[in-house]
Amino acid sequence: GLILLGAAVFGYLFGSIPFGLLLTKAAGLGDVRDIGSGNIGATNVLRTGRKDIAAATLLLDALKATAAALIFGHFSANAAVVAGLFAFLGHIFPVWLGFKGGKGVATYIGFLLGVAWPAAFAFAAIWLATAKISRYSSLSALLASLASPLVLLAMGDKLAAGAAAIMTVIVWVKHSENIVRLRAGTEGRIGKTS
Ligand code: G3P
Repeated sequence: GLILLGAAVFGYLFGSIPFGLLLTKAAGLGDVRDIGSGNIGATNVLRTGRKDIAAATLLLDALKATAAALIFGHFSANAAVVAGLFAFLGHIFPVWLGFKGGKGVATYIGFLLGVAWPAAFAFAAIWLATAKISRYSSLSALLASLASPLVLLAMGDKLAAGAAAIMTVIVWVKHSENIVRLRAGTEGRIGKTS
């Protein structure tokens, strides 16, 4: 009980660190929420033109969930999943930003890396293949997230699959504006200002 509560609290606090916002501010790029899609994630950070800051955002937003899961994995598999899931929730709903956080894609893959790493590779493969064909970051994330609970079920990891299903629903809701733009043919391509 207490371990799972600790996993939730630690995961949330760790996950709520908005690396995209902090790194762009530190680099003197202003507030990333004022450009492109207004999102704090790596895709929007890339619209500043700084590939290095975008890569660092992707890495750190992912690794905060991986780290939370690995740390609490020392207690139990359940604690790892709870810590990773709450890192994801912290990224999406950070108290520091009025609960208006990112769209969860990097943190989702970081969760997978921490709790069931082959599923992270499946996520990355689907993301990269879709991005190569379409140049849409959002579409790539939507498809990769849709597949992930199924991948985890195929791996026999029901608990992680349940957590992933929650994350997939949230990723899709957070991408509702992207979905409207994709359907209208007005979604920005990777690296282009939308
Ligand atoms: O990581 C979020 C990505 O899927 C879409 O980002 O900035 O184009 O809304 P953005």
